[in-house]
Amino acid sequence: MKKSLLGVVLLLFVANAWAEEDERKMVKLPEMMQSHMLANMRNHLETINLVLLQLANGELDKAADTAEQRLGMSSLDKHGAEHLARFMPEGMKKAGTAMHHAASRFALRAQEGEVLPAYKALQDVTAACVACHAAYRIR
Ligand code: HEC
Repeated sequence: MKKSLLGVVLLLFVANAWAEEDERKMVKLPEMMQSHMLANMRNHLETINLVLLQLANGELDKAADTAEQRLGMSSLDKHGAEHLARFMPEGMKKAGTAMHHAASRFALRAQEGEVLPAYKALQDVTAACVACHAAYRIR
């Protein structure tokens, strides 16, 4: 009786470990591309942080500008996006494009001057960050 209980407990442990296994798809990038991409990422986080600060200060025009120039469709050249995209599987490229589009949509919303719709549009941007992070890794 006790032995079978121990068996069940062990089985639960193993099942739990399996459930936590990393299921993100590994995307191999050349080393330089990898550090370039991670630097972009840190810049993205800084941008979201700055946009939140600007929103909190009621500086919607500034927030729009920050998002468009640093994350939106206007930022693609700066990030070397085209070069990076060549190494990405289709789904990852799409996730990246979705994020840049969402940032440009946020910029338009923010320019309209209403705070709540702007926050909602900003959440579409962070949702795109989350979706890609859940699906892919590069190391
Ligand atoms: C197209 C996919 C994709 C999108 C979109 C994306 N990321 Fe990432 N990000 C990644 C991957 C892949 C990694 C590396 C994960 C790993 O292998 O460790 C990463 C890593 C990061 C890191 C860690 C950087 C480091 O130096 O370790 C930060 C911070 C980050 N992302 C922020 C963001 C933010 C903020 C956004 C949205 C504005 C975003 N990312 C959008 C794919 C993406």
